[in-house]
Amino acid sequence: MSLDNDVRRAADIICNAESVTIISHIDADGISTEAILSQALTREGMAVDSVFVRQLEPMAMRHVQKDDSLKLFTDLGAGQQNLLEDHGLCADEVLILDHHVGQPCGTAYPQVNCLDHGFTRMSAAGLAYLVAKAIDPTGTDLAKLAVVGNVGDMMARENCGLVGPAREIVQDGVEYGNIVVQKPDLNCYGTSTRPVHVCLGYCDDPYIDGISNSTSGALRFLERLGVELKTPRGGWLVWEELPFEDRRKIISALAQQLIAHGRETDRLLAETYTFPDEPERTPLRNASEYATLLNACGRWAKPRIGGSICRGDRGDAYRDAEHMLAHHRTVIRDLLQYILEAGVTELSHLQYIHTGDRFPDTIVGIGAGMALSKLNWKKPMMVLSAMVDEPEVTKVSMRTNEWALARGVDLQEALVEASAEVGGAGGGHRIAAGAFIPHDKEEEFVDSVNRILKRQFASADPDNS
Ligand code: C5P
Ligand code: C5P
Repeated sequence: MSLDNDVRRAADIICNAESVTIISHIDADGISTEAILSQALTREGMAVDSVFVRQLEPMAMRHVQKDDSLKLFTDLGAGQQNLLEDHGLCADEVLILDHHVGQPCGTAYPQVNCLDHGFTRMSAAGLAYLVAKAIDPTGTDLAKLAVVGNVGDMMARENCGLVGPAREIVQDGVEYGNIVVQKPDLNCYGTSTRPVHVCLGYCDDPYIDGISNSTSGALRFLERLGVELKTPRGGWLVWEELPFEDRRKIISALAQQLIAHGRETDRLLAETYTFPDEPERTPLRNASEYATLLNACGRWAKPRIGGSICRGDRGDAYRDAEHMLAHHRTVIRDLLQYILEAGVTELSHLQYIHTGDRFPDTIVGIGAGMALSKLNWKKPMMVLSAMVDEPEVTKVSMRTNEWALARGVDLQEALVEASAEVGGAGGGHRIAAGAFIPHDKEEEFVDSVNRILKRQFASADPDNS
């Protein structure tokens, strides 16, 4: 069956349901997925209810009501099908839309998983959009939320942006008129919200000598280029507001600066997606900042606020989200600093740190990803953290990169295997995976993951393990 066929079948299952309960993940992809589907179904006059969970684990299943509605598991479920079975759910009352590696069980639950069709760069929000479009082909305004989900889950490729079916979704949004593709554009956070020198000064990936970590250095650099950085009334312009020629001038000067210091230029540029229908100078203006705003809501236990924003609330929900975003960014910065200052323990094939109960388990994965590029990026990075509400359980987050994937690394496989050995459960993707394990099995677990990674590296290159 093709992806199109699976999508059509999913649309039919949904349309034949009396009512639908969406069970979705709390991150940007899960929130945008829920918003796409619930809006699409509400437009069809269907009854929809939604539940958000931070991970599909036995405790979370308590939130899944036993009623007659179709249970639509989104951005989760594929890797936890045994839990659905344990919960007594039959194949005819479940539909899974997911992009995580599947772990089948005895019941053949209907599902759409882009991995089944060889698409690794497509998030759950992308799938949700395809299903919504199969239900109502005119609802292309929702493509924008699918782009937010895809970008939030880092589905874009460096240099060429979203690819495959995810790229066709971008095109729907461009045609509808609520997405503008900028290619190539500056790959920095804050292009819609921060004065240009602040945006550059805060950018440290790539590290630009004299500019990164120095807003005053960035300002001097820009002034030397003779670019107009202020509005006629004296306020600072943001990157998005600069004329095309000025942006080009700055980009080429930044590239020269990188080259002059012997650094790579490939991370300087990226394809970006901006949203002209959103208020100026807000994080809602581009996909990356929009996704971070949703992540801030979800990871701090307010996914419904993120959902309201996706539905167009620019009042109370937006103001709450802005506060959460500021808090989220501060904590992420503290987490990264903690990892770098406390230092990681390096084993032969991985590096790890235990952050105890200093940071919520919902954000440590983000820290693992950020720390990896600043540490030994050849060794997969693991962060262990205590679960405050479940002291007997330890949360594990791992991140790696394309370099390691090309050498045989598969974090999903490693964590599924190692967590099963200690009576835990894990899942995710080859490049990013997580697990819950018993607190008293941490040491054994870390050694086991190291051993599995050694095996994976060796299997791709038997001479160099
Ligand atoms: O639960 P979920 O699938 O949404 O989590 C995906 C995680 O994988 C995100 O935190 C995302 O940032 C990370 N990721 C990554 N590098 C990629 C793709 C995804 O770190 N290339
Ligand atoms: O929590 P974290 O961001 O590290 O999760 C990385 C990936 O691993 C996500 O896709 C998440 O859904 C998955 N994961 C999982 N089972 C867990 C923990 C995380 O499948 N117990």
